[in-house]
Amino acid sequence: MKISCLKSEVSSVETEALVINLFEDVKIPGGATGTIDTLTGGKISRLIKSGEITGKKNEITIIHTFGEFKFERIIVCGLGKQEKFNYDSIRQVMAIAMRQLRKIKISKVATICHGAGIAGLDPKLCAGAITEGTLLGTYQFSKYKSSSITETIEDLQIIENDDQKVQLIEDGINDGLILAESAIIARDLGNEPGNILPPRELADRAKGFSSEISLDCTILDKSEIQKLGMGGILGVSAGSHEEPRLIVMEHVGDPSSAEKIALCGKGITFDTGGISLKPPLNMGAMKGDMAGAAAVIGAMIAIKKLNLPINVLGVVASAENMPGGGAMRPGDIITMMNGKHVEVDNTDAEGRLVLGDAIEYSIQQGCTSIIDVATLTGAAVVALGNDSAAVMGNNQELIDQLIATSIITGEQYWQLPIFDNYRTQLDSIYADMKNTGGQPAGSITAGKFIQEFVGDTPWIHLDIAGMARLASTKDYKVAGHTGFGVRSLVSLIATLSR
Ligand code: BES
Ligand code: MN
Ligand code: ZN
Repeated sequence: MKISCLKSEVSSVETEALVINLFEDVKIPGGATGTIDTLTGGKISRLIKSGEITGKKNEITIIHTFGEFKFERIIVCGLGKQEKFNYDSIRQVMAIAMRQLRKIKISKVATICHGAGIAGLDPKLCAGAITEGTLLGTYQFSKYKSSSITETIEDLQIIENDDQKVQLIEDGINDGLILAESAIIARDLGNEPGNILPPRELADRAKGFSSEISLDCTILDKSEIQKLGMGGILGVSAGSHEEPRLIVMEHVGDPSSAEKIALCGKGITFDTGGISLKPPLNMGAMKGDMAGAAAVIGAMIAIKKLNLPINVLGVVASAENMPGGGAMRPGDIITMMNGKHVEVDNTDAEGRLVLGDAIEYSIQQGCTSIIDVATLTGAAVVALGNDSAAVMGNNQELIDQLIATSIITGEQYWQLPIFDNYRTQLDSIYADMKNTGGQPAGSITAGKFIQEFVGDTPWIHLDIAGMARLASTKDYKVAGHTGFGVRSLVSLIATLSR
């Protein structure tokens, strides 16, 4: 799809579908919607009066013009109550409108820049949200469907007549394209099944994406992982025929600075639980246990494309957790890269084992802050559901900065406590610690385990277990993998680069 900014008066746009909007409870439309209402002799205000158009959030009304105007249809989008309206409302309504227009085989669409008028939001961010909502909302993972929806919208124009806003809108479209494409890379990776995407393939794809944009990417194979003494990654992959990989992507955006942020991703390409085997129900979803890795890979690509002035190291620890004959057993004691001995209480708590090594590697590479991202615990899903991810860490400023990104990205986080007392749940009779802390506070004790590897380095841990995948489509989050984390990571890195 081609997305561009068109400098024009809204009334003279030639298109198959002209998208305008209305806030809830507005009786006499203003702005661009008012202009179209007047031009059409009050068609919109009549439909408001009759109750057919209410402006309720995500309501879509199509008005046909049958040759009366250069725009063949008027699409009135409900934006909901003005006081609840934000950038994510724009993404949501664009996704819903564009899918509906695709269904009726429309290929050329023009829209006003929702949010940049009466609502007074930043035109650049509004254009970014329009672009993201459109691309993410019309996303399809259809490579394994012999017949699928073939209709596509070819062209979207954002109309703006104010010279000063045109450039901002063009910049916003450019950013939105980069962010949506990177989130789509993460979605595609998450949606691939375990047989197609074992660690070696995840690494190959990361390498492929990187070489297209000259992003530095190094892949460490099993023998190199052994040389580094990464007992966590080796232990988890021991029961699989598939060898592990460590994927290292580096963006040097500020060579004069000693600061370097690590983005560490959990890349379990399939999690059977290992010898502590998971029950069959929904086990197939564990093909997506590399969503943290996908978020890191997607974010690194966007950070490079945006050329953010900051140094970032992406480190993905990838393994397949299988119960083969060589698998680690409950009760085994493994030695991590940082020398800590871990009693494996449950082989299904594998994410923290691979992340512990990825974090130690990042510290040895000179990273000065650490952000780890993982589908780490079922307990995070129980606590927060599918509407916010858990965040915890040892640095309140970083946590606050992450949470603040949701205003722009719509990706929500909620902080969990990591008081020192929780550490006792990991105490082991035989080793430095166990890899599980029992049922209570399962997401927090997983965080406490990871904290053992960060030392005093500023660190935040993002548990995205409930956010990586949706069973059914919700606005721009199409059923399947969501690409969650890509946009908030990029937004946080952008904040840190300022
Ligand atoms: N990958 C799972 C966590 C998960 C569960 C992600 C549901 C997405 C949806 C993780 O490796 C796991 O199995 N965690 C265990 C930890 C327990 C054994 C301490 C869990 O949450 O049950
Ligand atoms: Mn597991
Ligand atoms: Zn897992």
